[in-house]
Amino acid sequence: AGKPTTATIHADRPGPVYDRRIFTQFAEHLGHGIYGGLWVGNDRSIPNTNGFRNDVVAALRNLSVPVIRWPGGCFADEYHWREGVGPKGKRPIKVNTNWGGVTEPNSVGTHEYFELLRQVGAEAYISGNVGNGTPQEMAEWVEYITAPAGSLADERAKNGHKEPWVLPAFGIGNELWGCGGNMRAEYAADVTKRYSTFLKVPAGKTLVRIASGANGGDYNWTEVMMRDAAKQLDALSLHYYTLPQGGWPPKADPVNFDETAWADTLAATWKMDELITGHSKVMDKYDPQKRIFLAVDEWGTWYAPDPGTNPGFLRQQNTLRDALVASVNLDIFAKHADRVRMSAIAQMVNVLQAMILTEGRKMVLTPTYHVFEMYKPWQDATVLPIDIDTPWYNKDRFVMPAVSGSAVRARDGKVHVGLSNLDPNQTNMVTVKLDGLNAANVSGRILTAPAINSHNSFDAPEVVKPAAFTGAQVSGGTLTVALPPKSVVVLDLQ
Ligand code: AHR
Repeated sequence: AGKPTTATIHADRPGPVYDRRIFTQFAEHLGHGIYGGLWVGNDRSIPNTNGFRNDVVAALRNLSVPVIRWPGGCFADEYHWREGVGPKGKRPIKVNTNWGGVTEPNSVGTHEYFELLRQVGAEAYISGNVGNGTPQEMAEWVEYITAPAGSLADERAKNGHKEPWVLPAFGIGNELWGCGGNMRAEYAADVTKRYSTFLKVPAGKTLVRIASGANGGDYNWTEVMMRDAAKQLDALSLHYYTLPQGGWPPKADPVNFDETAWADTLAATWKMDELITGHSKVMDKYDPQKRIFLAVDEWGTWYAPDPGTNPGFLRQQNTLRDALVASVNLDIFAKHADRVRMSAIAQMVNVLQAMILTEGRKMVLTPTYHVFEMYKPWQDATVLPIDIDTPWYNKDRFVMPAVSGSAVRARDGKVHVGLSNLDPNQTNMVTVKLDGLNAANVSGRILTAPAINSHNSFDAPEVVKPAAFTGAQVSGGTLTVALPPKSVVVLDLQ
């Protein structure tokens, strides 16, 4: 065995709330992210409720998905909401210019999105079109959704929904530095202020306005947005994908990879910590009270597409490696929970680092799904600061901490500890001092698998799934864990 890990959990000085919106999911009109994966419309061969597949909705309900971001992504930058309301037969058929050039039937629009939210039990986060839409179009969309009366409310009622919907969050464009208009930060800040000015909700309602934030390490973008547009904002986004093998364009194989690629991927994931630290520092300068939060509303792995799939559909298999990417990110968000109050993994179904993969009638849960399920107690829990002194794991030129972790006190009073061992070869002995916590019992679950690239397929859907974990003991304010290689462990202390 290698060098052990020592850690301290400071239950005696609780930190901020781990906002449940950190578990937001992202569903874009991209490949089979919506059509086929969620929406099957009138296809009776796949059991559905009002067009949405029952199997996928049930799996999402089991995750307690708090929020679904929709309709994009780059798709949002060209989306005209009026084309997605009214009788289905009359909705225009468009070309999805960003994703594969396929036809977009507009069968899923605003009403269907809110029906999906109802079925899943999630809240809305809509990204508006700054790219090629007008401030008037955006303002009218918000009014159509939220107004109790007026001609847009009448139109909504005529289209089947009399009551206004609840719209807690709205994105003022997406990636204004790229597919949202290729803007300079200064121009984007001005445009954001202009669009934001006209987003109005009825008296007594609130709307969290999320501006299009930086691409990875573009700190200047954050600086300019905060300097010029902070008053019109409640949150700023950050997009950072884990892109092994030299970055853009994505070229890493999702399944056939060796330990070097494993280490490369996880090292790239650790960069999230550095990025949030950097952007938070800039935000602190303009907003020391932390009124404006950072919404990491696109993150996850981005590999080369699965062989034989449309490259514009961003379909990729998901392995144990992705599970570790998820747990490391969720731990990093705990460390920064004072500033990060929302994140959205990309994407929910069939796209990039998905929770769920489907093919026709078939559905499979990915290793990433299981991490999200295991971390459910983190939703709206109180972060308990954790200091970790862990050895380095390295392979070739990729070096990173071997053990990642976070701890929370959930709303039911129980303490939960997440620990991930990134070293695929060695068990790590972890000793955790529990300051201010007298726990007598520990139980837990583990997610691991025989190989670093183990994954679930339609034929073998349970290769990677959580199992009971018995490698932890607690006594006298000390928790000891024999943390198996390449594993994610979640412990419950009482
Ligand atoms: O998630 C896929 C794409 O990545 C999104 O549409 C875009 O916002 C980002 O570049």
